[in-house]
Amino acid sequence: MSRLDAAQLYERFYGDGRSRRGVFEAIAGWRAPARALYPGSFIHVAASFEIPHVTYVDTDRRARRFFAAREQVLAVVRAEKRYDGPPSFDFIGGSYEHPLDLPDASHDLLVSLYAGFISKPCKRYLAIGGVLVANNSHGDAGLAAIDPDYALVGVLAGRTDRLRVSEDALDTYLVPKSGTPPTEEQLRRLGRGVAYTRPAVAYLFRRLR
Ligand SMILES: C[S@@+](CC[C@H](N)C(=O)[O-])C[C@H]1O[C@@H](n2cnc3c(N)ncnc32)[C@H](O)[C@@H]1O
Repeated sequence: MSRLDAAQLYERFYGDGRSRRGVFEAIAGWRAPARALYPGSFIHVAASFEIPHVTYVDTDRRARRFFAAREQVLAVVRAEKRYDGPPSFDFIGGSYEHPLDLPDASHDLLVSLYAGFISKPCKRYLAIGGVLVANNSHGDAGLAAIDPDYALVGVLAGRTDRLRVSEDALDTYLVPKSGTPPTEEQLRRLGRGVAYTRPAVAYLFRRLR
């Protein structure tokens, strides 16, 4: 993949204000995570704009080719990063549902955005006290909400271009409109999130144990 190809591929999917870097910016301003694990990342390297080390995981062939062009990806990141020091990333071309070649508790942020049920199989790689950020698109926020190993500690609120972490009135979030929390089996069967009375852009959970 030529330099132009890597940058072009990123532009094609995440250019023109579609990077959602605000998600990572808000979290970096709140907790300053040093090491993030991003399963189901595709080529969403906006995480590296705000977080110094990111481990990306995806099965997609284009993602494999993108990250194999390491110097080109670093150039995309260097042009956008906001922290001091050099960016660093790893890429694992495999399924997050299988064991990953990573030490347990080796990351302080676990990212789950639009890519299925990540909170359970990848929990082991998140340090106790570390943060899971999950949205509700594929139901992973709902799964974390019923997992006693996680506790809701914040939500991402505000306009998509100016997100902030809110720690207020957390008991008003993740309240199902149906009145009954979904079971894991229901969420997996549905393959997407259930409706909540007060939705948030994404939910922040602390790993308790
Ligand atoms: C809709 S894209 C979302 C990409 C990115 N998270 C974002 O927010 O833009 C979903 C990605 O998850 C990846 N994916 C789905 N299941 C996976 C699995 N079990 N292991 C690794 N990657 C997976 C797909 O290959 C795809 O690239």
